[in-house]
Amino acid sequence: MSSDDIPELSHIPERTDPVIARLIVADANHTHGTSYHLVEPMHAGFQAGTWLLRNGENESAVLKWSPNRSAAPQLLRAADAVGRARDAGYPTPAWLAVGVAKSGFPYHIQQYVPGSSPSRLTAEVAERLLPVLEQQRGLDIDPEHCWSRYARTRLAGEWDHSRQAMADSGSRGRRFVEALDALVASFGQVELPSEDLVHGDFRLDNVLFRSGRVAAVIDMEALGSGTRAFDYATLLTVDDIDRAGWNLTRATGEQVAGPGVLAHCFALAALDLADFVRQRNPGRLPFIIGPLTDRTVALLP
Ligand SMILES: Nc1ncnc2c1ncn2[C@@H]1O[C@H](COP(=O)(O)OP(=O)(O)OP(=O)(O)O)[C@@H](O)[C@H]1O
Ligand SMILES: [Mg+2]
Repeated sequence: MSSDDIPELSHIPERTDPVIARLIVADANHTHGTSYHLVEPMHAGFQAGTWLLRNGENESAVLKWSPNRSAAPQLLRAADAVGRARDAGYPTPAWLAVGVAKSGFPYHIQQYVPGSSPSRLTAEVAERLLPVLEQQRGLDIDPEHCWSRYARTRLAGEWDHSRQAMADSGSRGRRFVEALDALVASFGQVELPSEDLVHGDFRLDNVLFRSGRVAAVIDMEALGSGTRAFDYATLLTVDDIDRAGWNLTRATGEQVAGPGVLAHCFALAALDLADFVRQRNPGRLPFIIGPLTDRTVALLP
């Protein structure tokens, strides 16, 4: 079967669907002269569309594909940016192939790196991760795709819809939004720098550790330029963080461009996370909204 056999898909397909994944691998093998086959899904992210592959030489690799056809241009840019980041020494797996399947779905195949993600942001974990974030300094990897520009636009009003939805979700949602507003207002005018590499989703499940060290930073598709403070802020929103991990990450993140920049980035990362959970997994919202509110208040000057 080839992807020519797929009828025009009118619905958004499941990324976990092995039939579609197999067709994408067949297209990729044809395009790149490779011999991969699907082994099993690698469940971790919410959408869990990542697959373990193996080739004729028994080498492992990782397939990621997106049901969003319009994501193709960003994926192709990301492929170039990942190459430049690796050239600069950033610890992320090589992308072995990137393309668009006949079905129109963008995909890429990357190096498999053995390792596992830490479950808790302790000081020991932070001590390993912060040097990686500091490696992002000055790596203005893709100025056309700028996280600081995104943050500026959202904070200037584009986040109002999400703020309102969150405030309407109940009294805890309202308190959360009040805390976010107070945090943003307390620093007045804040200029977000834009000359670093930004991962865009720098969470614990997007780093792989082996023997207590960082083996790889993964899930790189959204990378761009901006201030690395954004990735510090994202790290400060992870579910499980202890006091020492928080203190170290916060203090180092504030040194990037000042506490106001970290606070603004945190407000946006926290709202985006809560809003994503509200829409995709609402039963989990009550468990994260309290800690996110407390952390927002803790960042007030
Ligand atoms: N290069 C890799 N080497 C080894 N394991 C990987 C690699 N890439 C991904 N994985 C494993 O697969 C899981 C999911 O991958 P990834 O984080 O890239 O996707 P995701 O979070 O499901 O996707 P998205 O958030 O883009 O929907 C990871 O948590 C990790 O366990
Ligand atoms: Mg991930």
